[in-house]
Amino acid sequence: MDQKLDDVIQQLNEIRTKFQNEIKDCANADDVESLRIKYLSKKGIISGYFALLGKVSPKERPLLGKELNSLRSFAQENISEKSESFNISKGSKSFFDTSLPGINPVLGRRHPLRVVEDEIKEIFKSMGFDVERGPELETDYYNFEALNIPANHPARDSHDTFYISDNLVLRTHTSPVQVRTMENYKPPIRIIAPGRCFRKDTIDATHYPTFHQVEGLCVDEGITFADLKGVILAFARKLLGEDVKIRFRPSFFPFTEPSAEYDFSCFKCGGKGCRVCKGSGWIEISGAGMVNPAVFKYVDYDTDKYTGYAFGMGIERIAMLKYQIDDIRVFYENDLRFLQQF
Ligand code: DAH
Repeated sequence: MDQKLDDVIQQLNEIRTKFQNEIKDCANADDVESLRIKYLSKKGIISGYFALLGKVSPKERPLLGKELNSLRSFAQENISEKSESFNISKGSKSFFDTSLPGINPVLGRRHPLRVVEDEIKEIFKSMGFDVERGPELETDYYNFEALNIPANHPARDSHDTFYISDNLVLRTHTSPVQVRTMENYKPPIRIIAPGRCFRKDTIDATHYPTFHQVEGLCVDEGITFADLKGVILAFARKLLGEDVKIRFRPSFFPFTEPSAEYDFSCFKCGGKGCRVCKGSGWIEISGAGMVNPAVFKYVDYDTDKYTGYAFGMGIERIAMLKYQIDDIRVFYENDLRFLQQF
């Protein structure tokens, strides 16, 4: 090295003093910026000294490095403090240009399944139903047994259950909330129970391994199938308009007797037959029926005194009808182009 290390350090000290004087004299933002360029830009005074690092002996290098870094930080700190004092430092915390247009925060939206669930809830609440919820991880007892679906019953096959252990399942329907509710309350009961369910279905346009249902349950003295029909009709009218018709077809569910499946007249063609209803004029919704006394036995309800009805419905199915969506997968792909339409 041509210069002695001591000399270099002496020079650095002089630069520091000179810089201190010059920054004091800065009268505006432009002055500060010129000073920054003079000392700290690539070709600036301080940066130039960094080139010496390669030329000094390995023994001297740490000391010189320390001195240089200290000088550079000193200059940087002083410059940013000074420029903040002129309020011109772009991106600094205190800079706020009130003339710029505001930044609109991105607004979130409710998921379409939530929109439909909320609408279903509001309709039933207006008819005096309370909202109950149950766990998604259920015991075999609530998901099957207490609903009169004993082990080895063929009805279990259709549920394609995700077993977590011998005794625990991801609930395959919201019907277990019927049992939990009846365990916790005495009649009269009038509840709906919305929530997520799971089945080991292969994914296609109408199946997904997770989906949502709303369960309904009403128990009191003197409840009849006519009450069930009345409630379903009132619900359908509020959801789809006064002209909608409903129909019940005989069916079988272990937890209801008699059981039915119910349909709504096609909202698209009004019942004449179209592509949406596959020409039948009707759209299948789900199952319903009178609570099987066998279920009342599990919750110690007096079967001589009480009767009740229950029904289910799929939220995806109703959302697909309402918004004319022909593929269930879009609800779960989180594509913003889809979600932002709601
Ligand atoms: N839990 C049934 C299912 O997922 C649907 C159902 C049918 C619910 C009849 C009910 C009912 O409450 O009464 O397939």
